[in-house]
Amino acid sequence: MELTTPNIKYQDSYIAALKEGFYAGSQAIKTEAEIAEIAADFNKYLATKLLKPYDTTPRLRDDGKYYPNAPQIKFWLVEGNKFIGEFNLRTELNDFLMYVGGNVGYGIRPSERRKGYATKGLSLLLEEARQRNMKRLLIAAKSSNIGSWKAIEKNSGRLENIITLPWKKDSEEYKRYWIEIK
Ligand SMILES: CC(C)(COP(=O)(O)OP(=O)(O)OC[C@H]1O[C@@H](n2cnc3c(N)ncnc32)[C@H](O)[C@@H]1OP(=O)(O)O)[C@@H](O)C(=O)NCCC(=O)NCCS
Repeated sequence: MELTTPNIKYQDSYIAALKEGFYAGSQAIKTEAEIAEIAADFNKYLATKLLKPYDTTPRLRDDGKYYPNAPQIKFWLVEGNKFIGEFNLRTELNDFLMYVGGNVGYGIRPSERRKGYATKGLSLLLEEARQRNMKRLLIAAKSSNIGSWKAIEKNSGRLENIITLPWKKDSEEYKRYWIEIK
């Protein structure tokens, strides 16, 4: 198992994962029409969404402001030719990411959840961060997302605080963690 750069050789497996309802971080589950469009021109999707050196997820806040984009590297967790999940490493924090988005986003395809892959993928991502000379990573997870914050805690995440989003009505709670890079 390894983290690798998104590549057309995983196309079939990635499309199958999208059909299962795969998403990472705060992305939305793709509709059938969106999946068909991605499958029709996978190279275009690779170039415009997966290999861009910054976060391309449109992020509209409830108060009408857009989150600023940040430098980001996408990695795919794969085993053989099988796509298992996606790990996004944001190499710089801006005010918004410092508040809640953090340095890291991830998702495991539904058929492969609860097998330890988020925990494993996160440990591999720490190595990628170390190679880029990053000293520590901020990761936030909804308090209700037990699998996500457990994976962070299993990678030595230290809980900093629990927050809500002031711009969101009835905001859920988020747990903010730091992981020191050894
Ligand atoms: C959150 C997510 C990444 C977890 O991935 P995963 O591969 O299932 O996680 P792991 O198998 O490494 O599990 C880590 C721990 O959490 C537990 N866990 C996982 N999912 C759980 C769930 N839904 N409810 C309760 N515990 C859960 C596991 O049992 C394990 O704990 P244990 O070792 O004490 O048994 C996955 O559910 C997912 O992709 N969700 C949608 C996207 C998302 O929420 N991304 C994170 C945004 S911060």
